[in-house]
Amino acid sequence: MTQPATTGLQLHSLIKDSGELELSLRQVPVAEPAADEVIIRVEAAPLNPSDFNLLFGAADMKTAKASGTAEFPVVTATVPAAAMPAMQGRLNQSMPVGNEGAGVVVKAGQSPEAQALLGKTVATFGGEMYSQYRCAKAAQCVALPADCTAADGAAIFVNPLTAVCMVDVMRKEGHKALVHTVAASNLGQMLIKLCQKENISLVNIVRSQAQVDLLKEMGAEWVCNSSSPNFIQDLTQAIAATGATLVFDPIGGGDLLTQVMAIMEQSLIKAEPYSRYGSATRKQAYLYGVLDRSPTTIRLNFGLAFGISGWLLTHYMQTLSASERAQMQAYVLANLKTVFAGHYTREVSLAEALHLDEIAIYSQRATGGKYLINPSKGLSA
Ligand SMILES: NC(=O)c1ccc[n+]([C@@H]2O[C@H](COP(=O)([O-])OP(=O)(O)OC[C@H]3O[C@@H](n4cnc5c(N)ncnc54)[C@H](OP(=O)(O)O)[C@@H]3O)[C@@H](O)[C@H]2O)c1
Repeated sequence: MTQPATTGLQLHSLIKDSGELELSLRQVPVAEPAADEVIIRVEAAPLNPSDFNLLFGAADMKTAKASGTAEFPVVTATVPAAAMPAMQGRLNQSMPVGNEGAGVVVKAGQSPEAQALLGKTVATFGGEMYSQYRCAKAAQCVALPADCTAADGAAIFVNPLTAVCMVDVMRKEGHKALVHTVAASNLGQMLIKLCQKENISLVNIVRSQAQVDLLKEMGAEWVCNSSSPNFIQDLTQAIAATGATLVFDPIGGGDLLTQVMAIMEQSLIKAEPYSRYGSATRKQAYLYGVLDRSPTTIRLNFGLAFGISGWLLTHYMQTLSASERAQMQAYVLANLKTVFAGHYTREVSLAEALHLDEIAIYSQRATGGKYLINPSKGLSA
């Protein structure tokens, strides 16, 4: 087994109180693992929208400038003054980035649990994954099946578990079907395959005909295009047919949520005795992202039996028992190459991830445009 070097590269994000974002690579010491820890040589870590929050903060990346060297590039950008109050909690702290990833265990502490992982390809989460080497608790590592590469297992936590938890929410809250508003996303495509496997009715909302075609090709039954003149009609038909009373929305801004809830209400009141308070059946919306930062417009035209809440995977997982969490993780692993297979448009090194032309592409969060960082690419072990 090749021993790790004593130092390794790590991608950092720093917002200074002067209002400047600085992205850089740092050479940091590789920790000596404690008895219950392992050192992972990271080979794959996705650039998920949730990583952008820490990576870019509130910086306006249109102002980004490159400096530094080819080996140690530096990117700076301006954080608008109006956004600085929201950055107070992280000012002047250089923060390592990367929520999840996978790689090979190259060193292990003395505990049997840690030793059992030596030489295995494992996935883990908890931050700092855009690092050449990552020290992790053995208990927080998932050994990947023998036929899986680090790239196959790099993203087994955030999106797969979110899709599984959405279905869990639906079942526990007693909804018959669900609506998802960014259905062509990586997560949206996993949810389609999961609902097909579990025989669950899913109403998919997308925003272009190309995305309709993509999802129809996957066998999705209900796909409604918000940019089509027939959108309201199509959504009304899909909600009436499925009986969906739950919506997960990562867009946030605009009035799509109100449209969906109003159509649910109209569908419900047709089947219930008249009440001046609207339908007594609860409609639930979970806002689980902020892809559109414009104001969220809510018109209360869907009765009074409703809930609108924020939703975060980490918070939801904390409400589950250890055995539920273990079952979900096992389900994801068993279906890793099918339902939860991730697709990446490009694999970049840590230095390449800081090229302005690459940032301009991956920061668009476009359908099918997900990047994978390989912190070991082009570096000797
Ligand atoms: N709360 C949680 O715990 C949690 C967990 C996992 C994921 N998420 C969220 O889930 C979302 C999807 O993640 P992902 O990794 O699947 O993303 P992804 O594969 O990178 O895809 C992003 C998708 O968002 C669409 N999009 C971007 N801006 C949009 C806008 N303003 N209005 C409508 N659609 C827009 C893109 O469509 P176009 O190609 O048309 O731009 C694309 O289909 C992200 O917002 C992420 O933060 C949240």
